[in-house]
Amino acid sequence: MAENKRKNYKSLTDDLTEILLTEQQIDERIGEMAEEISEYYEDKQPILVSILKGSFVFMADLVRKLNIDCTLDFMIVSSYGTKSKSTGAVKIIKDLDIDIENKHILLVEDILDSGLTLSYIKRILETKKPASLRICTLLDKPDRRTANITAEYVGFTIPDKFIVGYGLDYAERYRNLPMIGILNPEIYADE
Ligand code: XMP
Ligand code: MG
Repeated sequence: MAENKRKNYKSLTDDLTEILLTEQQIDERIGEMAEEISEYYEDKQPILVSILKGSFVFMADLVRKLNIDCTLDFMIVSSYGTKSKSTGAVKIIKDLDIDIENKHILLVEDILDSGLTLSYIKRILETKKPASLRICTLLDKPDRRTANITAEYVGFTIPDKFIVGYGLDYAERYRNLPMIGILNPEIYADE
């Protein structure tokens, strides 16, 4: 049983051409981000809004390092389907549960790529009149930006490569890898 598990895990990392960020690098950087965020939101009781599914691991690690009073909510949007290239289309599959009017909102994302997803979500949320709205993304791929959007908190700026792990998927796989790696293009070459 244990042997089988190790074998499966190994086959996942075999699909990576490079490990871009180790578990430890990610953990340390999130600690720094959490300190900065805790300081800014100290008396603001923010609502952290995680954009699922990709940001679920980041959200879980980030909130446990925040030493402030906050609440959480989740949105599900779909922008990629199972393909590795953006279609530009964004659909809200699950909206917020909490009323955000006059509340301080921190959007938590896994990756800011073209920026289309976040600029769409930001526009929608701004119509609900929050007191403030900031963006926190673990990863930023500025080379591919087409929308005019920047994040207030960025974990790592990364090159234009398709990456997986730490919540990020290809065809729903690899989300459980604790590190972030570059996916071998052969894996998605036929699509
Ligand atoms: P945009 O282009 O709208 O995209 O900023 C944001 C969403 O696209 C997904 N995305 C990726 N997912 N590896 C992934 O697994 C990547 O390299 C990648 N780039 C973008 C992701 O869901 C993100 O929220
Ligand atoms: Mg995402």
